Amino acid sequence: MIERPRGTRDLDPAYLARHSFVESAFRRAAESFGYRQMLPPTFEPLELFHAKAGPGIEQEMYAFKDKAGRDLVLRPEFTAGVLRYYVNELRNAPKPIKLYSLGPVFRYEEPQHGRYREFWQFNCEILGGTPLDADAETTALAVLSVRAAGARRVETRIGHIGMLRAYLTVPKEVQGRILHALDKRDFPKLHQELDKAGQLDAEATLRDVIALRGGPEILKQASDLLGGVGGEAFEHLMRLSDRLPAYGIREGVIFDMGIIRGLAYYTGMVFQIHAPTLGAEDQIGGGGSYALAELFGGEPIFSTGFAIGMDRVVLASGAEGVAVPPPKLDAYVVPIGDAIRGKAFEITANLRGTGLKVDIDLVGRGPSKNLDYANAMGARWAVLVGDKELAKGNVALRNMETGEQREVAVAELASVLGMDKPLMGGVEFH
Ligand code: HAM
Repeated sequence: MIERPRGTRDLDPAYLARHSFVESAFRRAAESFGYRQMLPPTFEPLELFHAKAGPGIEQEMYAFKDKAGRDLVLRPEFTAGVLRYYVNELRNAPKPIKLYSLGPVFRYEEPQHGRYREFWQFNCEILGGTPLDADAETTALAVLSVRAAGARRVETRIGHIGMLRAYLTVPKEVQGRILHALDKRDFPKLHQELDKAGQLDAEATLRDVIALRGGPEILKQASDLLGGVGGEAFEHLMRLSDRLPAYGIREGVIFDMGIIRGLAYYTGMVFQIHAPTLGAEDQIGGGGSYALAELFGGEPIFSTGFAIGMDRVVLASGAEGVAVPPPKLDAYVVPIGDAIRGKAFEITANLRGTGLKVDIDLVGRGPSKNLDYANAMGARWAVLVGDKELAKGNVALRNMETGEQREVAVAELASVLGMDKPLMGGVEFH
């Protein structure tokens, strides 16, 4: 037996039914906001992420050499690839540019429930635009797409990394290491880094600031603790949260000065969406504004975006009991006897052409074995094609749930099968 690589999954039809539901909710949400889809490659040059993603992601990358000795990496996220594409191909396109991507990403992490080495992200970026409008659009789309995908018991926590960066007047790499220690709540490491940087005075303040979480009052408290540094940041957050009701977002949003984020490129507003139903790995999405274009040879441009962990949304919507119809066949066609097989395939082709999901016996089983198979596949109907009925232009139609059987004209089959087809759940934002 050959085992799957650690941290990977075989996604089965039932899981994928829910995954597809979430995916289609995300696509519709992004497109309703005017985003267009783009997909960077699954593997990228190592240098795209090296020294840009930050120490957290850097240690988790699937890096390898190809046969020509090139250093490559399986993408650990989309943002850097999207920005590389923007700088190389879209620099002169009308702004703002709104792009979404959806697909698997790879991180060498310690696997557990909700944490995998191959997982799916729904990623959205806005390049250009004014900070307030673009940040509000970004945050709103993140919240609304999670809602549309059926995860409603969530909390959005908004913070600002810019205020901590403004406070920590140390070289960028040192700042990166200090922020990483703060993000991990690794206080011995924080102490060590601040000591090395001669900034031990800041330790108590930093620890107090990142513990602040709540309503607008904490912005004033954070500003006081930081000695007035970051006033603009707090003003920005106030205006951002005042904007969200215009999108229909009136609850479930708090300020949290402890949102640091695992990636190094953030410079301004940062946020995370948490689903308490998920336990330890409860972060279902996150993002913020960042600076990357200039690292890839472009002009600085206001950039803001987010990614949602699709697997975690699948788990969260399941935990909330959101019903997703399991994948079912509409009909299974059973040819009775060899002579009419050609006709049975023709009937099948006509039904498939109407958009119904239809399968047909491919192994030449007898009728009763075929009905067992139809049952195992969850077919709603079995269509029995036999000489006797065909002579009258009919087939026998069997309801697989009740076992009732009746004759139906071949010409009417599609409309009879389509009539009681269950509708997929609609997608609603509110
Ligand atoms: P991130 O926070 O690293 O952000 O990842 C986004 C989401 O991916 C997380 O909130 C989580 O739901 C999911 N995720 C992360 N690691 C795993 C894992 N091992 N297994 C399952 N799900 C996971 C980014 O990737 C940024 N590029 C977001 C962004 C876009 N910022 C600006 N634009």
